[in-house]
Amino acid sequence: MEFDVFTLLPEVFPPYLESSILQRARQRGLIEVRVHNIRDWAADKHHVTDDVPYGGGGGMVMKPEPVFAAVEAVLGAGPQACCPLILLTPQGRVFNQNIAFELSRLPRLGLLCGRYEGIDERIREHLVTDEISVGDYVLTGGELPALILIDAVSRLLPGVLGDPDGALDDSHASGLLEYPHYTRPPEFRGWKVPEILLSGDHAKINRWRREQSLARTLRQRPGLLERAPLSEADRKFLEEISRSSDSQKP
Ligand SMILES: C[S@@+](CC[C@H](N)C(=O)[O-])C[C@H]1O[C@@H](n2cnc3c(N)ncnc32)[C@H](O)[C@@H]1O
Repeated sequence: MEFDVFTLLPEVFPPYLESSILQRARQRGLIEVRVHNIRDWAADKHHVTDDVPYGGGGGMVMKPEPVFAAVEAVLGAGPQACCPLILLTPQGRVFNQNIAFELSRLPRLGLLCGRYEGIDERIREHLVTDEISVGDYVLTGGELPALILIDAVSRLLPGVLGDPDGALDDSHASGLLEYPHYTRPPEFRGWKVPEILLSGDHAKINRWRREQSLARTLRQRPGLLERAPLSEADRKFLEEISRSSDSQKP
């Protein structure tokens, strides 16, 4: 999958993209990330990319001309554009695993990172095709959100993770939070690994993990259970633990 990132801070990207799983995915040709400096498309002598807002108020606004020029040069213009252009913005639909799956089916994606007070509205209206937020808080720029999106989408692509099924059990992939993990040693400071994980009985381990996922989701994110695909056995287990926690209430 190919990503084209448009930013005023291209130097932010290499340290992360050149580490660990994303680095391996790039070296193996599974993803390609091209980072474009919007400033390179600013036509004036000083490569100005921002200006004061019409109507007054503090902060600066990203000018439309260099952003349009950069995006149209790389992705193509209007209906001829090769792929969607996502604006990272706290005003967009909130990113989640389903959106990551949806995007992972695309061959190519443009990502536009805002800075300052944000972008000139005409960019949003006439260039951007989708808007994504990484949560209800405000960052100084769209670079971290773009990296979050690239990371979450890339690890869903075939071959990127060492374990091909690795992403299937992850939190949110199945609509539930993931079960707890343990590794060696079997006892640390007196805290023991649950006996069942050492038993070698995979059917029992799978059931234990499913129940841990259900219990953890009920405790930490009960709203997720409304949409999660649940079996009869899952529902029975949830009823039992809800009943036993009710009976412990004063
Ligand atoms: C300081 S923010 C501007 C926020 C803007 N004034 C507003 O209230 O919507 C600068 C840039 O950071 C990025 N950004 C900030 N928070 C974000 C979030 N939660 N998700 C995605 N991008 C975000 C956007 O690209 C935004 O244009």
